[in-house]
Amino acid sequence: MNKILSKEQFSEKVFCIVVEAPLIARSCRAGNFVIVRVDKNSERVPYTIAKADPEKGTLTMVIQEVGLSSTKLCNMEPGEEVLDIVGPLGQASHIENYGTVVCAGGGIGIAAILPILTALKKAGNRVISVLAGRTKELVIMVDDVAEYSDEVIIMTDDGSMGKKGVVTVGVEEVLQREKVDKVLAIGPPMMMKFTSLMAKKYGIPNDVSLNTIMVDGTGMCGACRLTIGGKTKFVCIDGPEFDGDLVDWDEMFKRMGTFKNVEREELERKST
Ligand code: FES
Repeated sequence: MNKILSKEQFSEKVFCIVVEAPLIARSCRAGNFVIVRVDKNSERVPYTIAKADPEKGTLTMVIQEVGLSSTKLCNMEPGEEVLDIVGPLGQASHIENYGTVVCAGGGIGIAAILPILTALKKAGNRVISVLAGRTKELVIMVDDVAEYSDEVIIMTDDGSMGKKGVVTVGVEEVLQREKVDKVLAIGPPMMMKFTSLMAKKYGIPNDVSLNTIMVDGTGMCGACRLTIGGKTKFVCIDGPEFDGDLVDWDEMFKRMGTFKNVEREELERKST
């Protein structure tokens, strides 16, 4: 059991929670994730680790209410306990001094990119962060990102914060302006696809962090399998980061929709 220590509401459906998980907090690295089971009736849901505090033994996660289990987790209060947290899972991000790196984060993907851009900055990179959301409420953790960025560009669909436009507009502004050595994108699949295509257009190596459906998180069930560069890969053990140029995006979108109807029916059943 892992106790929730604090909870903060970022927007209508997005919450930041801090949980007790000392062993994971001590051993996780940028890019790792965890799988949380809220109670014995909940699915196992993967969440990225926004921050880990090895001394306090805590993990900070940003959760968006999208399905039954994430909604249950968002409804829990400090003092309550989740059934279990498994991790750290996945391959840690490859961190080196590339030179100038553009880190594009969309929505709660900003929480996932935070530890990676922090590690990239500590490795000596010039980090330019492009944060995007539909409205200003969905552009989260700006101060945390700014602490480890040389520049922060904010894009919102409605222009309520920063510049009006989608993330690729902000990314292209940088790519046209200066030499960039690497692009990293984390956010909704469509945002990652188009950021990756934008980087490819400029001939810049780019990575994306894929958020497929997962079950066991250990490479056994096959739920997270995708085709990367023509080969079958498991996001939970081979990823979650992959070369964006090699991702079969059509397959990714298809697999993301696999359980949508089941999830919707289950949510409707529970709310009636
Ligand atoms: Fe089961 Fe990846 S979640 S193989």
